[in-house]
Amino acid sequence: MPTFEPRVLSGMRPTGALHLGHYFGPLVHWIELQNEGHYRCFFFSADWHALTTGYRDTADLKRYRREMIADWLAVGLDPAKVTIFAQAAVPEHAELSTLFGMFTPVPWLERVPSYKETRAELVDRDLSTIGFLGYPLLQTADISIYRATAVPVGEDQVAHVELSREVLRRFNAYYAEIFPEPKAIVSKVRRLPGLDGRKMSKSYNNAIYLTESAEEVKKKVMPAPTDPARVKRTDPGTPGKCNIYAYHRVVQPQTDLEEIAHGCRTAGIGCVDCKKRLLGRLEIIQAPIRAKKAEVMASGLADDVIAKGNSTARHEAQATMQRVREAMGL
Ligand code: TRP
Ligand code: SF4
Repeated sequence: MPTFEPRVLSGMRPTGALHLGHYFGPLVHWIELQNEGHYRCFFFSADWHALTTGYRDTADLKRYRREMIADWLAVGLDPAKVTIFAQAAVPEHAELSTLFGMFTPVPWLERVPSYKETRAELVDRDLSTIGFLGYPLLQTADISIYRATAVPVGEDQVAHVELSREVLRRFNAYYAEIFPEPKAIVSKVRRLPGLDGRKMSKSYNNAIYLTESAEEVKKKVMPAPTDPARVKRTDPGTPGKCNIYAYHRVVQPQTDLEEIAHGCRTAGIGCVDCKKRLLGRLEIIQAPIRAKKAEVMASGLADDVIAKGNSTARHEAQATMQRVREAMGL
């Protein structure tokens, strides 16, 4: 096996403004990787992946992408350190995905757990498409066209990276050893649940957006359910049974956390005050992000960053494709 430069690639589908679940999940992880400086990093908007399920209505895609990338910049991704780009601007991904499709057995794709799960979940649209079946294969092209060695992903994406490894192993065996087998790196960051305890998601309407105003955040947090055993102010509670506490766990320093847990168990603190304390902490996190986002949007920085990143990415992708075409006798 040749040795490969340590490289990270990851992406998100452009679904518009990001929420705190995106932040305390992938984004904190990406920023860590960026700042550690061990890997050369590529982060991109997975435009075509958004189309695999959202092919009927594409009117908002560009706006969503711009908004998402502005949020990335607002939380501290630094275009001087990492490459930020749009998948749709690098058509070589599609070429590579098509070539992988020549030797990838359909059952490998049908076996990926998210294939059946998502089809069962999104019953309102026809997902018996080539595009949706090929989702993980396109993802394999995204990763390998930059010869990424590591892919930061959530638990739900590990099976996709596993499939990528199999496809790339087969490529390397059949044609030439061009590709590293990427490893999935799953972040240790504790994930933030939605206000109702389910996964935080736009579609569940349980999300707090990164740049929402303090006023709006308050309107969402104050009515949220807490430990149902605390009916009266004097009833003691169990932090483990309260979703608000799940938030404290992610955002509070350890000493504050212990104080809150103790206050809850002894009825020393009421849920209203407990929530206000959470709001105070959220505001400390969100205020600078909100300010930076406004600056990014006003200056048109997001567009400049994407344009520059696209050109860097395309250059890399073209170099890989040159080698792939040669290896495959094209
Ligand atoms: N499937 C990923 C998600 O939904 C997005 C994605 C597309 C991706 N291509 C990728 C992530 C390549 C990592 C690497 O979150
Ligand atoms: Fe939840 Fe805080 Fe109320 Fe305890 S005091 S139940 S942690 S909101």
